Amino acid sequence: MSRSKRKWDHIQYALEMGQKRLSGFDDIKFVNQSLPEMNFDSVKLQTEIGELSLSSPIFINAMTGGGGERTFRINRDLAIAARETGTAIAVGSQMSALRNPEERRTYEIVREMHPGGILLANLGSEATLEQAKAAVEMIRADGLQIHLNVVQELTMPEGDRYFSGALARIAEIVENIGVPVIVKEVGFGVSSETAAKLYAHGVRYLDIGGFGGTNFAKIENKRRERLLTFFEDWGIPSVASIMEAKSAVQDMTVIASGGIQTSFDIVKGLASGAAAAAMAGYLLKTLLEQGTEGLIKEISNIKEEIAILMTAVGVQTIEELHHVPIVISGETHHWLSQRGID
Ligand code: FNR
Repeated sequence: MSRSKRKWDHIQYALEMGQKRLSGFDDIKFVNQSLPEMNFDSVKLQTEIGELSLSSPIFINAMTGGGGERTFRINRDLAIAARETGTAIAVGSQMSALRNPEERRTYEIVREMHPGGILLANLGSEATLEQAKAAVEMIRADGLQIHLNVVQELTMPEGDRYFSGALARIAEIVENIGVPVIVKEVGFGVSSETAAKLYAHGVRYLDIGGFGGTNFAKIENKRRERLLTFFEDWGIPSVASIMEAKSAVQDMTVIASGGIQTSFDIVKGLASGAAAAAMAGYLLKTLLEQGTEGLIKEISNIKEEIAILMTAVGVQTIEELHHVPIVISGETHHWLSQRGID
C-alpha cells in the first residue's frame, strides 16, 4: 500500500470512529466560586511553551502529510484556520518528505499560508539530528515535535520493531537543534516513569497525547487480518497522564492532548497542570464537515468559552488556572490513587 493511501486511510478511519469520551475530562468538576472579583475582559489567554509565546492555550496538533492532493488541501485549510485565529499548528510527520522531495509542498504550504505563525515540525524518534534540522528548515519551524508511537508501530503489520536508542537520539536533538523540542505521544499517554526519563535527557516540553481520543490501535487493526485487540484499550487516559507527568517532574511544561473536544476539556486539562492543550481528530472532523469557515468559527468559539470558564472560576491567567480547586472522581480518581498521585 502506498504511503499516501495509508495516510488517507488514517484520516478516514479516525473520522469513522467518532469521538468517545474516555480521556477522563468528565471525571473533573470545578468548585463554583460565587465571588470571582474580576471581569471577563481582564482574562489573558497567553501561555508559554519555553520561548514560544502562544496567544491562546490551544494548538492544532500534528496530522497529515504525504504526497496526496487531499492531504495537501487539508494542510492548507488547517493553516488558513490557524492564521485567522492566531493559533499555533504542528504539521504531520515529515520523514517521508525528507525522502521524497516532491512531498515537501504538503508541508511548505503550511508556512506559506501562515507566514507569521508558530509552526511545529514533526518527526518520529527514529530521526537523526540531521533529519531534525532538515525538517525544521523545510517549514522554517519555531519548534520541533518528536512523536513516540511504539504501540501504533507494533499494531501496524509493516510497523517498526526496533526501539533502542530513541532516548539518546532525542537528547542529541534537544541539545543541538536550537528550537524548543516537544516530545509527544499519539494517543497512548506518557507515564511518570517515561516523563522522568525524558527530563533526565534534557526534554522540557511534553505533549502527553493521552488515551481516549484518536485511537491508532483501532485504526491500524483495520488493516490487519489477525487483530491485536488488546491494544485497543491500551493507554493512559489524558487527565491521568497529565498528572502522571507533572507529579514526576514539576518543572516539565506539559501539553494536554488526546480526546479534547471542547473548551471545557481544555480548561480541565489546564487546571490539571497543563500549560496548553492540543487538538487533532476533533478539529480535522470539524474541517471536513464544516469547511475552513466552520473551523475558524469553532476555534474562535472555543477561545471565547475558555475566557468565560476562567471568569467563572475567578482566574485571569493560565498560570492561576493551575491552582484552582478541582474534584476528581471515577476512573481517573482510581488511577491516580493506585499510582500514588494526589
Ligand atoms: C495524527 N497524529 C500524528 N501525530 C504525530 O506526531 N505525527 C503524525 O504524523 C500524526 N498523524 C496523524 C494523522 C491523523 C489523521 C490523526 C487524527 C492524528 C496524532 C495526533 O497528533 C494526536 O497525538 C492524536 O490524534 C491524539 O489527539 P486527538 O486526535 O485525540 O485530539
